[in-house]
This record gives sequence, C-alpha cells and structure tokens, in this order.
Amino acid sequence: MHFQWYPGHMTKAKRMMQENIKLVDLVIELVDARIPLSSRNPDIDELGKNKARLILLNKSDLAQEQWNDAWEAYFRSKGYLVAKVNSKKNSSMKPVHGVIQEACKEKLERDRKRGILNRPVRAMVVGIPNVGKSTFINSLAGKACAKTGNKPGVTKGKQWIRLNKQVELLDTPGILWPKFEDQTVGLMMAFIGSMKDELLNTEELAAELIRVVEANYPGTLKEKYRVERSEEAGGNTEVKPKPYQMLEQIARSRHCLLRGNELDTEKAAILLLDDFRNGRLGRLTLEYPKEV
Ligand code: G4P
Repeated sequence: MHFQWYPGHMTKAKRMMQENIKLVDLVIELVDARIPLSSRNPDIDELGKNKARLILLNKSDLAQEQWNDAWEAYFRSKGYLVAKVNSKKNSSMKPVHGVIQEACKEKLERDRKRGILNRPVRAMVVGIPNVGKSTFINSLAGKACAKTGNKPGVTKGKQWIRLNKQVELLDTPGILWPKFEDQTVGLMMAFIGSMKDELLNTEELAAELIRVVEANYPGTLKEKYRVERSEEAGGNTEVKPKPYQMLEQIARSRHCLLRGNELDTEKAAILLLDDFRNGRLGRLTLEYPKEV
C-alpha cells in the first residue's frame, strides 16, 4: 500500500507550526496511545527545542493499560513529562492540569528570578490529524474558562484560553505531519484514521489490520465477529493466514451483501476499521516500546 501526504499540506502545516511555536513557552504534544511512536513526528523535538515539553498519551481508553504504563515509563526515561489521557472524559483532565503546572515550573521560576511576575505561561497543543487535539482542548478548557485574546495590540489576532492564573492555551492546535520513514508508519496512521480514507484502498487496509490484530491479539476477531481464525478457514490448518479470507467471513457474518448475495467486502472493511477506531474490538495497543 502506498501512503501520501501532499507536499502542499505539509508545507502549510510546517509554516503554521513555525509561526505559532514562537508564541508559546510550553508544547503539549498529543500522541495516540495505540501507536505512540508512529503518531509522533520527531521534527517537533527540533521545532520545540528551548520550550517546556509535555507528551500526552491520548485515547488511552482505547489502548491496553499495561502498555499505557509501559509507554509512560518509556517517554519518562527519555526525559519527557508524560501523562495518560482520555480526552472524552472530563475527570481525566484533573491530573493533566497538575502535570501542566509541573511542566511550567521551571519557566515560572526563571521568570521570577528575572523579576517577571504574573506573566502566564503560554501553551500550545500539537499532534497529527485525528489524534484528539480539539476534543482535548475543549475538555481541558471546559466551560468555566473565559476566552481571552483578539484584543487589539495585546494578542494580534490569536485566541488564547485562560486555563488558570498561570497558564494560557492557544485555542488553535498545531497540526503535525506524518514522518514517513517507513510504510509501517503510514499503515498505523491509516488504521487510526489519521489519513484520509478516500485516498486508501479500504479493503487492503482492513486486510492489513486483520493481519496485525491476528498477530498481536489472536482470537479477538473470531470472538467479535463469530468467525473462524483466518488460518483455520476451510478446516486446513496448513494454510497460511489469509486476512482477506477473514474479511469475507466478516462480510458473511455481518450480512454485508451485494445484489445477488455477493459478499460486500468493502462494506465489511469499513465496518471493521470503524469498530477498531471506536474501541469496539476492545483495547488494542499496536506498538510496543523496545526498551523501557
Ligand atoms: P483532531 O482535532 O486532532 O483532528 O481530533 P478530534 O479532536 O477531532 O478527535 C478525533 C476523534 O477522536 C473524534 O471522534 C473524538 O471524539 C475522538 N477522541 C478524541 N480523544 C479521544 C479519547 O481520548 N478517547 C476516545 N475514545 N476518543 C477520542 P469522532 O468519531 O471523529 O467524532 P465524535 O463522533 O466522537 O464526535
């Protein structure tokens, strides 16, 4: 499968990021807890150098808890402040406020030593498409937080959300682009819905997802869709796993049919991808830290 990210989009995203990052002291980077490495872009380390940094494992409710913990330890061992988040749950935000304060500590201390008092730390949320940036900003800001900004001469058109006395958040997140070092990254991003599905071959993508899920969570698909495991299909255990065969079985079991009772594997593919993305296959982590 070939993945694309148009150069024009990339240039625009980069330019926006370069402009906005100058305005902030703290970069809050959202990654998808199911694929914490593929959903990162190391360029952010270069762009965000000299800034306070925080990594949030978002959608942690869709990933396995033991791996969330392992990834938390991994990023911590690399020197980042890190926390697990479910942006759809308001109660998940309380610890985030705490870790933001921690990330700002040094900056506030530096300001204090230089005699700068009461200047809020400015933060910006960044991440690849669909990682949950808008959902996170809405949850974190809540209703209680008044929007500041658009005051002539003060913010020059940027909208800032005051989180508390010490922190302001830029209300538009920064979009990061994928780092296509290898095709696996593109594949992982496509699984979680960060690539436009129209540009992809849905059935091929679903077959790849079946391959990955079968390898890491054998039996999960069988149980969910009440089908045989792919290598058991046809009762021949010698046959190599055939994800496409399983897709057909899913189509059959879910009555995805075209006219003339032909199997609608495209519909089954959409159904499967949707089930994965929304956690209906259970909590599935697809990437694992090599060292902790
Ligand atoms: P973006 O700004 O980074 O592009 O992402 P956005 O907030 O639009 O979120 C993309 C999708 O991810 C949304 O689902 C959103 O609800 C979901 N999402 C965000 N954070 C979390 C999380 O921590 N856990 C889970 N389970 N889902 C999360 P959607 O289906 O596109 O929209 P909706 O139907 O949920 O509104």
